Formats: sequence, C-alpha cells, structure tokens
Amino acid sequence: MQSLTLDLESAMRDVEQLLAASCSSDEPLLTEMARRMVLAGGKRIRPRIMLLSYMACGARQALPELIEAAAGIELIHTATLVHDDIIDRGELRRGVPATQREHGPDRAIILGDFLFTQGFLLSARQDAEVVRLTGAACRKLAEGELKELQALFDADLSLERYMDIIFCKTAAPLEACGRVGAHFAGRDEWQDALGAYGKHLGLAFQVSDDLLDLRGDPARTGKPRGTDLRSGAPNAAVLLGARNGARAKMQEFLAKRVRTEEDVQAALDALARSGAAQEAQRLAEEHAARAVEALSPLPDSPAKRELLAQVRALPVRPA
Ligand code: IPE
Ligand code: IPE
Ligand code: MG
Ligand code: MG
Repeated sequence: MQSLTLDLESAMRDVEQLLAASCSSDEPLLTEMARRMVLAGGKRIRPRIMLLSYMACGARQALPELIEAAAGIELIHTATLVHDDIIDRGELRRGVPATQREHGPDRAIILGDFLFTQGFLLSARQDAEVVRLTGAACRKLAEGELKELQALFDADLSLERYMDIIFCKTAAPLEACGRVGAHFAGRDEWQDALGAYGKHLGLAFQVSDDLLDLRGDPARTGKPRGTDLRSGAPNAAVLLGARNGARAKMQEFLAKRVRTEEDVQAALDALARSGAAQEAQRLAEEHAARAVEALSPLPDSPAKRELLAQVRALPVRPA
C-alpha cells in the first residue's frame, strides 16, 4: 500500500515490486531472462538518485508516477547492460552469467528490446517533460555506445572525446534522474542543480570504475584486471598514461596486431609506473567535488545529505 508521505527505503521497495512486475511477459522465456537480470541485484543508483533528488527539493508526497519513472529508468538501464554485454562479449553481469552468454546474442537482443520497452512505457505514463528528459538520456546512451566503439584501440583519443563518451553513456542518464526528481517536486528551477549533480556524479563514477579496472578488484567488478586494456575500451587511466609517462609503451601496445597476455601485463606495469592512476584519481575527485558543489543551492536536509553520501560511496573513494 502506498503511504502518503515518502520514505526512501519504502519507496525503493515499491520500485522493486514494480521492477519484478514489469518482467512479466506472455513468453515464459522472456519472463525468465528478464527476472534473471533485473532481480540479480544491481545497485539501483539511478532510481535512488531520482527519488532523493525529489526529496531534496522538499517534496514529501508519495507519488505513484515517481515510482513508475524510477522503475522505468532502471529497466532502461538494465536493457542497455544486456545489449552492452553483446557488444563487449561480457561474460558476467550482476554476478550471474550475462544473457548473451547464457542464451546467446539473439535472445539477448530481444530481452534488451523488451526491457527497454517496459521501461519506456513506465516513463511515458508521465507528463511530456519526463518523456523528453528520459528520451534525451536514451539517445545519449546510444550515441555513447557508438562513440565508444569508434574509439576502441585509439592511441590518440583526447581527454575531451573520452569525457564526451562517458558523459553520453554514464553521466547523461544520471543527469536525467536528477532533473526528473526536481520536475516531479514542482521545482523545475532546481533541475540544473540536480542535473549537474547527477552528471558530475556519473563522470566521477565512470572514472572510478576505470581505475578499478586497472587496479583489479574482481570481487567488485566481476572482471579480471585490465579488461579495458584487452578490449581496447576507452579508460581514463590508460588514456592519461598514453599521454604522459607510458606513451611509448602504450602506443606500441595499441598498434600491435596481436596482443598476448604478456603484452597486457607489460602495458599494465608501464601504466602503474607512469602515475596515470593518480592522475585519473584526481580527475574523479574533481568531478566528485563538482557534484557536491552543484548541490549548494539546495537547503540542508536528510535527502541532500544522502545525495552527498552517494558521492563518498564511489567505487574508488575520493581522498
Ligand atoms: C554499470 O552501471 C555500467 C556503467 C555505467 C559503469 P552500474 O554500475 O550502475 O550497474 P548496476 O546497475 O549496479 O548493475
Ligand atoms: C556499460 O558500459 C553500458 C552502458 C553504460 C551503456 P561499460 O561497458 O563501460 O560497463 P561494464 O563494465 O560492461 O559494466
Ligand atoms: Mg561497453
Ligand atoms: Mg561492458
């Protein structure tokens, strides 16, 4: 039952219920594949940021539309992960075998389409502004995935292009969450502040994620150390190393036709010596600080403090 005043954890439970209900299809296999991915235990950062943004604007009323939009963005995000694992040949997702691994890429394409549709239908139940904001984020996501493909193994990738890629694929959806939260609260004048918070949180989050890949923390990432390097995926620390101390080694590595496991380890060692990780850490810290700064127009509240705590909970904690 929906209560009249909003409590974050009970609202997140409502989101969970709606996510589970949205996995139902007339096709049993689709239901099974959807439940496997959606209920496998993502961090639910996007719906949480949307709900907290709404609450940080001082809104207290529990709105079914807000729960729908929060579940909608999480379903859309899950759809992009299912498709991303086809593109990246990802083996493990949310601690379980990736759909493309378990059921093959054809079924994974269909699951992604299904989850995207279910998510967008929930978001589209809202007013035109929510549809516009959600649609803009989805467009950026698609553009980001393509831009990333075009930047694979590019030794000359600039920091600007890298930042644009991670803005599109990671930060734009989080920006939309902040904006939608403000909009539901009737505080469109705070869309820019909460949107900037989501954007910089997303940028810091992605750079931190890149660092984790380089440092290697399979328990957290579910991936072996250096996965980005092996696949040629744009990674902040690799890019910064290629511009500075590890330039020659990285150019040699990226230009190779065949890269052996020894090549990967040698490139990782050169990167470790180059100070690239420290530079990437500074980049993550800069965006974490900008996320915090973006919230300054909002009055102090438990929800605002929780938004700030989300910045401190980044994969690689800013010093
Ligand atoms: C994974 O997003 C993709 C990136 C943008 C790095 P999350 O790290 O939020 O994934 P889940 O939802 O918790 O699985
Ligand atoms: C995740 O991107 C997909 C999107 C954000 C669209 P990545 O390929 O960088 O993330 P992981 O490592 O698979 O989660
Ligand atoms: Mg990818
Ligand atoms: Mg991937």
